[in-house]
Amino acid sequence: MNLSERDKLHNWHPYTQHKTAANFPAIVKGEGALLWDENGKEYIDAIASWWVNPYGHSNKIIADAIYEQLTTLEHVLFGGFTHDKAVLLAEKLLTILPNNQKKLFYSDNGSTAVEVALKCALQYNYNKGIKKTKIIAFKDAFHGDTFGAMASSGITFFTEAFKGSLLEVVRIPVPIKENEEQILQTLKDLVKTNEYAAFIFEPLVQGAAGMVMYSSEILDKMIAICNQNNVFTIADEVMTGFGKTGKTFASDYLDNKPDMMCLSKALTGGTIPMAITTFTQEIFDGFYDDDTNKAFFHGHTFTANPTACAAALASINLLQTEAIQNNITRVHERHLAFELKIKSHPKVKTTRVLGVIFALEIKTETQESYYGTMRNKLYNFFIENGVILRPVGNIVYILPPYIISDQQLEKVYTIVEKAVDMI
Ligand SMILES: Cc1ncc(COP(=O)(O)O)c(C=O)c1O
Repeated sequence: MNLSERDKLHNWHPYTQHKTAANFPAIVKGEGALLWDENGKEYIDAIASWWVNPYGHSNKIIADAIYEQLTTLEHVLFGGFTHDKAVLLAEKLLTILPNNQKKLFYSDNGSTAVEVALKCALQYNYNKGIKKTKIIAFKDAFHGDTFGAMASSGITFFTEAFKGSLLEVVRIPVPIKENEEQILQTLKDLVKTNEYAAFIFEPLVQGAAGMVMYSSEILDKMIAICNQNNVFTIADEVMTGFGKTGKTFASDYLDNKPDMMCLSKALTGGTIPMAITTFTQEIFDGFYDDDTNKAFFHGHTFTANPTACAAALASINLLQTEAIQNNITRVHERHLAFELKIKSHPKVKTTRVLGVIFALEIKTETQESYYGTMRNKLYNFFIENGVILRPVGNIVYILPPYIISDQQLEKVYTIVEKAVDMI
């Protein structure tokens, strides 16, 4: 039996109906934007393995930093101790985060970063004797799969089975030109009730919904409304962080900065799972008290793991190099050129580009479901042609590692064009 067949015997994969799923390719090597399976087939990783890997697979600089850390101090508990890499990483991050962000809380993945933010919003109010127990979120948002994150997410079939066991969250539509005024009014009405602790959002781009984009101007207005009414704002930058939108953070496009930010995915360049939730001083101070019970009683065994912190430091240093910044600009410009070419295709409904993110929506007769027939046909076509793309319903998006070559990008565009022709 090969790896692919042996995998099927024991492993349960994410978001997978195993009864109908085919055998999955077993990847044995990665380098730059490329992956190879056990049969030697080559794939271009055009979605940076779920958006984690901007600097390329098996990046030597990050690998060296990890090796050095593993052979110096692989792990130490963060409860009651600290270490140089957590201190250095905090100092480094604070130089690139919006300057209202002052404190960092470490956890393990995007969902836990969101849990930490939500729990802090709720407990901040609890500590002050204020009853604010509800959350505001966008329709079709995705914030992760743990309970708080799930409650804030709006993709119903992901969360349907857990209805009744979730936090109370009210969902407002994503703003488009036509509904902006109405959305601002809805938000004003909600925050006036004094029942809401926080408004959580994916700033400017809703990744899992299919790279749905909205303007920074409206988000600025929404944050201002929350600020005026003491509702915390949480920017979930798990997907958008570290250069994806063309700026270090999507929040850098905003005049009004969020109170909390959730970071993960590209934080460690796709090497070691880690997340960070960042906070204003005001939020931290809401827990700072002579009363021990007002502390934030939350933690994970691997909180601020030194090896992950070393990987994050190396990744942020890479992000700041001229070479990577030039790559971000290059990929963005190539996306724009491809957009110009493909947007008049008779089967293309809409296109959008922000930073290294490109998305197109295929015209359909009927509403296409998330894992519908068209999506599966497209996905299989891409895999057969050696390009890893995971369409969302009828939306095809590209979010490659920043270091992808022009030639590899060209191949991705050609395959996308062929897919649109085929469908
Ligand atoms: C915006 C956003 N938040 C949170 C998450 C959850 O992250 P994780 O899968 O690491 O738990 C995701 C995952 O795709 C995401 O896109």
